[in-house]
Amino acid sequence: MYASFKSIGAYIPEKVLTNEELEKMVDTSDEWIIKRTGIKERHIADDSELTSDMGVKAGELAIKRAGLQKSDIDAVICATISPDHFCMPSTANLISHKLGLNPVTSFDISAACTGFIYALNIAKSFVESGSFKNVLIVGAEKLSSIVDYTDRTTCILFGDGAGAAVIGATDKKEDAVIDVHTGADGSYSDYLITPGGGSAEPCSLETIENRRHYMKMQGNATFKVAVKTLTKDVIDILGKNEIDPKDIKHFIPHQANYRIIKAVGDALKLDSEQVVLTVHKYGNTSSASIPMAMNDLYESGKLKNGELMLLDAFGGGLTWGSALIPFAGK
Ligand code: UT7
Repeated sequence: MYASFKSIGAYIPEKVLTNEELEKMVDTSDEWIIKRTGIKERHIADDSELTSDMGVKAGELAIKRAGLQKSDIDAVICATISPDHFCMPSTANLISHKLGLNPVTSFDISAACTGFIYALNIAKSFVESGSFKNVLIVGAEKLSSIVDYTDRTTCILFGDGAGAAVIGATDKKEDAVIDVHTGADGSYSDYLITPGGGSAEPCSLETIENRRHYMKMQGNATFKVAVKTLTKDVIDILGKNEIDPKDIKHFIPHQANYRIIKAVGDALKLDSEQVVLTVHKYGNTSSASIPMAMNDLYESGKLKNGELMLLDAFGGGLTWGSALIPFAGK
């Protein structure tokens, strides 16, 4: 049995936070943000909208587009760094419940911006081993709940949203996910970190006063590792599978920074039509960024059955991952 990428869905919250609005909140400028990141605006969930609610909306679309009933889903994996609740219950449990699924296996994974590719890798293994037939994978983030809107080095980057896909069993080799690579290096753990709230720094008045529950990033150092790692990762996966970059129909990278995407695209000598870009309108939505970008492509009518996609992500941990996938949806 092979694992195929059957469908894609996403949910983008309505409220938009523009660079101009951020100019009124911190010492920054539209010009700086666009020049350094390519981001013009990002979407922000409203107060009552939880990470699981966005995951449910993306998941419903993905199940429908896969031509499945909710009862066909055997497992739910949610990749998130902004869960409804820290520790428990998992956001995947809540998504599963809100979707009205049967009591199925559901759990979260923590791999930051690479989360969707990690979830894909796990779902692929479940399906190929015969454990499950249809796995719903979700990347959902309410990053606005862990962003410090007094810190100009991070608050201009992130947005909210969710994306989801169904990874299902098939006997057609041409529909099979070709390969998924994932990796991590904990020696860079302080490059991107939410220091407070865990066992290292349990919640206290001090952690709150020192804003330790918000995301912190060593931006420039992360940038350098990101370009190097992402480039190596795509070269490796293409080389291993003997695929020429020009045969990639859609390169769908993690949308963290236009300059990073451009550097990797240039290293592979990709044409601009091959590179999917949404960073300008959604910012960095961590685990949701790749499926949100893929959904944009799908809804614009540009993602067709059988077309070869290359995914590439990098994030806190540090973690990274890439995947080669023919789109097996309709
Ligand atoms: O998704 C997970 C992976 N994430 C990434 O891969 C993100 C990687 N990092 C980046 O995308 C970039 O490093 C940033 C966009 C975060 C920053 O861009 P940069 O070109 O690396 O800038 P920098 O951090 O080296 O800062 C340059 C200057 C500094 O001022 P001085 O020291 O040169 O006077 C910063 O204080 O820009 C200043 N700065 C800002 N200025 C205006 C930092 N943030 C801002 C801001 N507005 N928002």
